[in-house]
Amino acid sequence: MKVKAAVLREFKQPMAIEELELADPKANEVLVRYVATGFCHSDLHVMLGEIPVPLPMVLGHESAGVVEKVGPGVTKVKPGDHVVSTWMVPCGGCFQCQQGKGNICEGNFGAFLQGHLLDGSSRLTDKKGNPIGHGFFVTGFSNYSVVPEAGVFPLPKELPLEHGCFLGCCVPTGWGSVVNVGKIVAGTTVAVYGCGPIGLNTILAAKLRHAHPIIAVDLEGSREGIAREFGATHFINSSKEDPVSKIQELTGGAGVEVVFEAIGDPGAIIQAWWSLRMGGKLVLAGITPAEATTNLPLMLMPLHAKSLLGTLYGDIKTDTDIPRLARMATTGVFKLDKLLTKKIKLENVMEAAESMMNRKTEGRWAIMYE
Ligand SMILES: NC(=O)c1ccc[n+]([C@@H]2O[C@H](COP(=O)([O-])OP(=O)(O)OC[C@H]3O[C@@H](n4cnc5c(N)ncnc54)[C@H](O)[C@@H]3O)[C@@H](O)[C@H]2O)c1
Ligand SMILES: [Zn+2]
Ligand SMILES: [Zn+2]
Repeated sequence: MKVKAAVLREFKQPMAIEELELADPKANEVLVRYVATGFCHSDLHVMLGEIPVPLPMVLGHESAGVVEKVGPGVTKVKPGDHVVSTWMVPCGGCFQCQQGKGNICEGNFGAFLQGHLLDGSSRLTDKKGNPIGHGFFVTGFSNYSVVPEAGVFPLPKELPLEHGCFLGCCVPTGWGSVVNVGKIVAGTTVAVYGCGPIGLNTILAAKLRHAHPIIAVDLEGSREGIAREFGATHFINSSKEDPVSKIQELTGGAGVEVVFEAIGDPGAIIQAWWSLRMGGKLVLAGITPAEATTNLPLMLMPLHAKSLLGTLYGDIKTDTDIPRLARMATTGVFKLDKLLTKKIKLENVMEAAESMMNRKTEGRWAIMYE
């Protein structure tokens, strides 16, 4: 069938809308008609060549839609079901999956980065018949895609799909960073650097766990309102004041127990590190450009017993966590209506990229398909 997609053919160049051919789902694959796709900063990283992947590729990995057709053997969903797609699809059999770490599945990591489905091929071809990569299994900058059965999860019909898409990336990443990685308990002192959707969902999850205080930091003072809406007890505009000394001041000189970096900026990582008290944990969800390095005082790692914890997908287990988060979302607890700040057409996807690049995007913009 013919589909409409934004194709990235070259890094640092605009994605262009193309008509592509999408093949039928094979065994254990599902054809989804997407309704909404959030524009995540990881898409921007890929566009800028900061996360290198083979091109051409159709990006977009925060998507929800309706099942149109299923391939042989599919039992999890049926046509008409509302679903969210996940950008990691655990194989179930590898070393990581067997330890419950399907978020870093070694069996499917190659396909994840190469833009393949699980059989190593693509269902998308362009007008010349050349294959086009699937962005992280989801391929959400296309009005339809074929995804692995293990990478779709039914959504309750009362949850609007324009909100359900956020269960594909920013909600689980923020939630999992707090619950699985930071292991926040009531009263943990927390700071969150970056008040985009990853940071906002981190703040919200920390609030649900009764962390206190929850100190939000952003270079844009205009993020204060949304950061407080999502549960920040304090807000520091780091373009106006030094966040490290302010965090120390707010915590009686000690610093906080857990800091989350939800930006991917080497300078912010250094500030985040110095915001920790002894024994503290720095959780890195933000993705820095592939070439980036940073200067951290290694001697203090053992001497202050500090740790640095990278997390992919908030260390979630998609099979249990996505349905759990979807159930929670129906209560309104994730404030997904507040997170969705602008709806755009696929044709305007570059507006979303430019706005984010200039730190103008507050909350999440979503591409809506008719
Ligand atoms: N680890 C994962 O699994 C995972 C999943 C999704 C996204 N991410 C990454 O998380 C990061 C955040 O994504 P997002 O979609 O929320 O991004 P976003 O662009 O919407 O938000 C980033 C926020 O950080 C602020 N900011 C930028 N530079 C700053 C600095 N130096 N100091 C303080 N604030 C600064 C911006 O003003 C903005 O409010 C990205 O790097 C993204 O790739 C990681
Ligand atoms: Zn994302
Ligand atoms: Zn695996």
